[in-house]
Amino acid sequence: MRHLRRQAEARDAADPLAPFRARFLRPDRDVVYLDGNSLGPPSGEVLDAVLATIRRDWRTRLVEAWSEWIDLPLRAGGLLAPLLGADPAEVALADQTTVNLYKLATAALEVTDGRDVVTDADNFPSDRYVLDAAARRAGGRLRIVPSDPSPDDVAAALDGEVGLVSLSWVSYRSGALADAAAITAAAHDVGALVLWDCSHAAGVVPVDLDGIGADLAVGCTYKYLNGGPGAPAFLYVRADLHERLVSPIPGWWGHASMFSFAPDYVPAPDIRRFLVGTPPILSLVAAIAGIELVAEAGIEAIRRKSMAMTGWFVELVETHLGDLGARVVGPRDPSRRGSHVAVAHPEAWQLTQALRDEGVIVDFRTPELVRFGFSPLVNSFADLARAIETTESILRDGRHRRHPRQPTTVT
Ligand SMILES: Cc1ncc(COP(=O)(O)O)c(C=O)c1O
Repeated sequence: MRHLRRQAEARDAADPLAPFRARFLRPDRDVVYLDGNSLGPPSGEVLDAVLATIRRDWRTRLVEAWSEWIDLPLRAGGLLAPLLGADPAEVALADQTTVNLYKLATAALEVTDGRDVVTDADNFPSDRYVLDAAARRAGGRLRIVPSDPSPDDVAAALDGEVGLVSLSWVSYRSGALADAAAITAAAHDVGALVLWDCSHAAGVVPVDLDGIGADLAVGCTYKYLNGGPGAPAFLYVRADLHERLVSPIPGWWGHASMFSFAPDYVPAPDIRRFLVGTPPILSLVAAIAGIELVAEAGIEAIRRKSMAMTGWFVELVETHLGDLGARVVGPRDPSRRGSHVAVAHPEAWQLTQALRDEGVIVDFRTPELVRFGFSPLVNSFADLARAIETTESILRDGRHRRHPRQPTTVT
């Protein structure tokens, strides 16, 4: 184990992003936090931005502060756009990822000939529910392809009846990275639009929406963008689709002239038409601070460290945990995955609880996955070494078996 720690120390010493770790607020107890893929921790910048907004704007300027707040959904989108390979005018922050999925899927199926929607077996539950509802609303049905589909798997499910393909850029379960360019091209060949869920990519994997000709995308800002619990999600609509697509939730924030208080809905000509109602300003301010920190570090540098982490961790799981019933799920090659490594184990729930008890915060996904998520701005290689040492020690002497076998509340 000393060897493992020495290796981690050498990697940390050579890590250009290491100074960013000190910019985040640490929990009081000594934990290794490997769940930034679920909820990123707060940076000092987020704390300062929220406090300043309360003290300076809300307290002092009260309702007059809306004259600046009103632009925040688009301003935040503009700041996020380069991380998604998008033009600033193509991205906005609004609502939740689930709501944005519904708005964009429903709007897309209004303009395509096909009515059916293609997604994969392991896509996030909200995505499956929403896509099913949108397909049925349009008079079509949901077609399910195998999880982590190759472009050929998707192509095999495509025909003229398909109006929309919607998949995750990075799978929330296996961490697999989709071949987004080839899948998008295959969907376009049959006249379908493509809606990408970039929740597990935004802020950690460079996304190239304009470059691959993507149509639509959504994603969370509370994971690798560290915007805080329930921070508003983002949505991307390619510029030439703005005027063709109309949101199924015609709110006043999407109106062409919201302060005319007109009796009839006229959608704004630009990305604003996909906004609905009053946004959560404190969370938007936090999300902006999170996005700015990622932009400062640089997405390419973040990706390099993320791949070094997942690549090393996969090796460590195989060498240290392979004879203890643990197995890496998804691609081995770090260039084919996002920033978490899912480890399958028959007692995954108990193992997750034991790890949390011993200060390694990971999460569980049914029925047998433990997810180890690596946030390159927050985590060190020493964190990974400690996670492996703790997991090996728990499994070797069976300490996880002290925990109930049946999952209770899952976070
Ligand atoms: C891939 C993916 N899509 C969608 C969602 C749902 O996001 P929200 O709860 O913000 O609607 C999540 C949440 O974790 C997710 O991981």
